[in-house]
Amino acid sequence: MGLKEEIAKRRTFGIISHPDAGKTTLTEKLLLFGGAIHEAGAVKSNKIKKTATSDFMEIERQRGISVATSVMGFEYKNYKVNILDTPGHQDFAEDTFRTLTAVDSVIIVVDAAKGVEAQTKKLMEVCRMRKTPVMVFVNKMDRPSKDYFDLLDEIEEQLQIKVRPLSWPIGNGTEFRGVYNLYEENLYLFTPGKQVLESGLSFSNVNTPEIEEHIGKESADTLREDIDLVEGVYNEFSVDEYRDATLAPVFFGSALNNFGVRELLHCFLEIAPPPLPSKTDVRMVDPFEEKFSGFVFKIHANMDPNHRNRIAFLRVCSGKFERNTYYLHVGLGKNMKFSSPTAFMAQKKSVVDEAWPGDIIGIPDSGNFKIGDSLTQGEKMNFKGLPSFSPELFRYIENADPMKSKQLAKGVDQLMDEGVAQLFISQYNGRKIIGTVGALQFEVIQYRLEHEYNAKCRYEPIRLHKACWMKSNNPEQLSDFKKRKAQYIAKDKYGRDVFLADSAYMLQMAQESFKDIEFHFTSEFE
Ligand code: G4P
Repeated sequence: MGLKEEIAKRRTFGIISHPDAGKTTLTEKLLLFGGAIHEAGAVKSNKIKKTATSDFMEIERQRGISVATSVMGFEYKNYKVNILDTPGHQDFAEDTFRTLTAVDSVIIVVDAAKGVEAQTKKLMEVCRMRKTPVMVFVNKMDRPSKDYFDLLDEIEEQLQIKVRPLSWPIGNGTEFRGVYNLYEENLYLFTPGKQVLESGLSFSNVNTPEIEEHIGKESADTLREDIDLVEGVYNEFSVDEYRDATLAPVFFGSALNNFGVRELLHCFLEIAPPPLPSKTDVRMVDPFEEKFSGFVFKIHANMDPNHRNRIAFLRVCSGKFERNTYYLHVGLGKNMKFSSPTAFMAQKKSVVDEAWPGDIIGIPDSGNFKIGDSLTQGEKMNFKGLPSFSPELFRYIENADPMKSKQLAKGVDQLMDEGVAQLFISQYNGRKIIGTVGALQFEVIQYRLEHEYNAKCRYEPIRLHKACWMKSNNPEQLSDFKKRKAQYIAKDKYGRDVFLADSAYMLQMAQESFKDIEFHFTSEFE
C-alpha cells in the first residue's frame, strides 16, 4: 500500500467530555468493536478518579498505566483508527489541549441528563480555535434525560456550533425504546441490559407502517412528528460543513449498554477527515508529501526512577517515518536516528519499522525532546499550534537541600520539558516561578523531584493573576514598558519575555496605558 492509501484509511481522533459523562466507557466500547480489547473494564484502570485530587501516589500509579492507553490504535473495516486519550481531570487540562493538536477530529460525549458541562465547553474552545471537526454523542439514554430538542439547543448555544441530529431517540428514561438512525434509515430497538450487536431493522423511510409493529402506534406517531420537526428545523446534513467545523452531527445512545455506539463509529469512519495538512512557521505541510515530518506533542516520563528514560509522542504529519533512518531534530539542529520507535496497537506497545501520517509513535528519549519539537527529513521548519497557555496558579520554587542544587535544576528543567508545568525566571530578582493549571501539579512536581531526581524543593507564595506574552510594533513603547514594569517581567522556557500581571486591574491599566502593546494569554497568536 502506498502513501495515498495509507493516509486515506487513517482516522486519528480524540474523545472529550466532562468527567463522568462516559468517555472511558465509550472508548472501551469502540475498542471492543475494533477487537483491540476483549473485555469491558480494560481501559477503566486508566482513570484518575475524582477522589484522587490530593492523592498523588495514585496519580503516579495511573501515570504508568496511562502510557499504555495514551494512544489506542486498531484496525476496523479497512480503517486504521487511532484514539488519543485525553485526561479528564481538569488539573491536566493543558495535557488535553496539547493532545488535541495531534488529532484530526473529535468526538464529544455529553450526558443526556446533565447537558453541556464546564470542562466540555472549555475543550470545545480549543477545537473551535483549531477548527477541528466535532461529532457529538449524547450518552446515558437509558436514564431520564432532558427534552431532546432543548438539549440540542443547549449544545448549539453552549458549544457555539450548529448541530444536526443523525439519529433520533424514541421515548425517554424508562420509556426509552431505541433510536431511529436518520443517516442510514434504520431502527434500533433498545432492551435494557442487553448489548446490541446485531444490525438494526432497515426501512425505506420513517412513514412505513412496519415501524408500528416494532414500537407501537403511539411511539411511532411521536417519532414521525419529531422527525418532521427535525427535518423542518435543521438543514440537511452536509459533510462539508462538518469537515469545515461549522456543523456537529449528533448521535444518541448509551455507551454502557453498547447502544448507538456502532452507528456512531460507522458514520464517523465514513465522514471524519483523514490526516490533514499541518501548519509550520515556514509553510503548510501536506500529509501526501514524500518527505517525512512530524512533531512531539507529549512527553511521558518512565515509571522506573532508576532509568530516567522518557517517551516522546510524535505525530507523523507527512511522508513515511522509518526506523533507523536519520532525521533532523530542528530545535537542536542535529541529525538523529531511532532504533526502537514504538506504536500502540490494541493496548500493546511494539517496535515498528514504519509509520504513516496520522500515526503516533513513541520515541524512547533520554532528554533530547521538548514538547513542540519538530523532526524532518532535513527541512528547517517548526510545527505551529502548540502554544503555552497562561497558567492559573503561580509559586516561587526554592531549593530545600543546598547539596542537591544541580539535581534540582535538572529535575525542574526536565519536568518543564514534559509540560508538567511552566517555568518563568524573574528578570528582576532571578527567582524561579512555577506556573500551573491546577494545584495538583505542585504536589506532583515536589514528589517527582524527590523520587526521580533526588532533589528537594519548597514553594513560596507569589500573588499573580496571569502570564501575558507580548507583541508590539512600537519597540520604544515595549522597552519603556519593560523598564517600568521590570519587577513583573520574566522569561519563559523559550527565552520569550512575559509580563506577570499581579491582578486583573494591573493588566487593565497596562493595556490602557500602553496601547501599542498586545497582551496575549497564549504564546502563539499570529
Ligand atoms: P468518564 O470517563 O467520562 O469520566 O466517564 P465513565 O465512562 O467512567 O462513566 C462515568 C459513569 O457513568 C460510570 O459509572 C459509567 O458506568 C456510567 N455510564 C457510562 N455510560 C453510561 C450509560 O450509557 N448509561 C448509564 N446509566 N451509565 C453510564 P460509575 O458508577 O462512576 O463507574 P462504574 O463503577 O460503573 O465503573
